[in-house]
Amino acid sequence: MTFKPLRKAVFPVGGLGTRFLPATKALPKEMLPIVDRPLIQYAVDEAIEAGIEQMIFVTGRGKSAIEDHFDIAYELETTMAQRGKSLDLLHQTRLKPGAVAYVRQQEPMGLGHAVWCARDIVGDEPFAVLLADDFMVGGAGRPGCLKQMVDAYNRTGGNLICAQEVPDDQTHMYGIITPGARDGALTEVKGLVEKPAAGTAPSNLSVIGRYILQPEVMRVLEGQEKGAGGEIQLTDAMARMIGDQPFHGVTFAGRRFDCGDKAGFIQANLALALGRDDIGPAVRDFARAALANEA
Ligand code: G1P
Repeated sequence: MTFKPLRKAVFPVGGLGTRFLPATKALPKEMLPIVDRPLIQYAVDEAIEAGIEQMIFVTGRGKSAIEDHFDIAYELETTMAQRGKSLDLLHQTRLKPGAVAYVRQQEPMGLGHAVWCARDIVGDEPFAVLLADDFMVGGAGRPGCLKQMVDAYNRTGGNLICAQEVPDDQTHMYGIITPGARDGALTEVKGLVEKPAAGTAPSNLSVIGRYILQPEVMRVLEGQEKGAGGEIQLTDAMARMIGDQPFHGVTFAGRRFDCGDKAGFIQANLALALGRDDIGPAVRDFARAALANEA
């Protein structure tokens, strides 16, 4: 079986971000910063590193800050140029003309529905899906998560999901994999279930928010019924593709921070801040003193 190369990525960014209220009342949760870059910027940079040429945002009301972020910022650029300041950071966040498309998901009806909203822009090609609140940091000297998955895709074709083990008491929060044969970082996917009830998970290998999918999944999503939480689930559609096409999980060599969760978000900020040359020493001194005072 031959598979087309991967050129497009879908970013579902229509979610309401209720877990971060009131911060996310007027600010899209994807614009929350890890140090000085919004979460969505990390996801887009990860996609560019993996060779993605077209970014497709599935957006919603109140999310226009995301569009502005990837556009030209005339006032800022003009004023900064007049002041002789570098425009590099602003230029890095521009997407090339035509390399970005926005489609609206009018109602939050689930991840599967969000992905399906992008069907006409995706067309008859494989595509990636990146969930920005799964913040993935490649290990030292290693590429990002999607690039690692693309390298695997070039060998296996078919469908790939990022896979990570989670504690037993967290399996009800994730898509869970029934694992088959393992080969290094690759695990054959034999089954998938979205947010299984406590004690019923087939394993503790969970689906993390990076996917490489064949376009047939759009047709499965077309007639998809509501699943866990009353939402149209991508996991349910993927489950129906198993057996028709190769399906693998890829264990990511790196760290994942759940930035949909407050503790995970703070941990990501701390981890990245500690690794920075500019602010790392000051943050380290502060963290040491704060922890010593606690002891
Ligand atoms: C989504 C997916 C789930 C996956 C998770 C990863 O759930 O539906 O299968 O395990 O992302 O973060 P959500 O976190 O949006 O509820």
